Amino acid sequence: MAITDFERYPLTFGPSPIHTLPRLTQHLGGATIWAKREDVNSGLAYGGNKTRKLEYLVPDAIASGADTLVSIGGYQSNHTRQVAAVAAKIGMKAVLVQENWVDWPDSVNDRVGNIMLSRIMGAEVRLDPAGFGIGIKSSWEKALEDVKARGGTPYAIPAGASDHRLGGLGFANWAYEVERQERELGVFFDTIVVCSVTGSTHAGMIAGFAGQERPRRVIGIDASAKIRETRDQVARIARNTAALIGLERELRDDEITVLEGWAGDLYGIPVESTLDAIRLTGRLEGMIIDPVYEGKSMAGLIELVTSGDIPAGSNVLYAHLGGQPAINAYSALFR
Ligand SMILES: Cc1ncc(COP(=O)(O)O)c(C=O)c1O
Repeated sequence: MAITDFERYPLTFGPSPIHTLPRLTQHLGGATIWAKREDVNSGLAYGGNKTRKLEYLVPDAIASGADTLVSIGGYQSNHTRQVAAVAAKIGMKAVLVQENWVDWPDSVNDRVGNIMLSRIMGAEVRLDPAGFGIGIKSSWEKALEDVKARGGTPYAIPAGASDHRLGGLGFANWAYEVERQERELGVFFDTIVVCSVTGSTHAGMIAGFAGQERPRRVIGIDASAKIRETRDQVARIARNTAALIGLERELRDDEITVLEGWAGDLYGIPVESTLDAIRLTGRLEGMIIDPVYEGKSMAGLIELVTSGDIPAGSNVLYAHLGGQPAINAYSALFR
């Protein structure tokens, strides 16, 4: 099967916009920096990368006869917020297990930003004290059982929609979308920079680009501070997705690049380079990025461009995956 053979439930406006970041480019004095904006890709509660993944899960959910999407993430999960939005859009219910993934001392961490939006959209939000981890959790299994016990039909969506058979398809499709936009723009993005945590965003891109003629670097920046787990997860999902969309060769190890160095010690806790990246991008481009994910991948991009690791003649495409609502839980950092 090819990517075009999979049923897709359109939730996005169409191709997400690509534009240059001229003042950031000039400031860094190296490669030309562009952004592809998943933060403005849909009308669903601020969009983001999960909206694209869910375009491929929704037909499966509908076909299964489900009436409730059941998912899991941290208190400030962008993913669960997008699941809540999609459930509302397609007329299903949402049950969301929200775990205490980040030991972040903001008193409104479990009330503002993403979690507030999910509540506004009618999701059943279950707070759970468990810490960071993206595997199968008993709280999530209990939520699935509870939906059944009250006569509903749940559809299980794992953290970040990643450990799901179809989880990589959204960004495999993104890779083909980039190829079409390159033809329109008359540019070739030799380097892609993307934040990686649960893995299927980066993995889907790798699988999608691997089927194209011109090779390019697809650099994942780890934001989980668990580099081994992130690499394993990305490699596994990339290989599964490549097989699913009919890539007729094995992915090589050198096609799977996840870099560490910008996550700090803990998922969800920004470090100096994260805050510098957030301020720089805001002040030079008016583009807002968050302290959990995009601030860390932008910090990586800044260092790779400044050091010349991404050479001056490059066109580098920064995948802006959304996530701004969480910034409301980090107000103390920007007083
Ligand atoms: C804003 C944002 N950026 C990046 C990521 C990382 O994507 P993935 O979990 O697919 O690796 C996520 C979700 O985890 C996210 O919400």
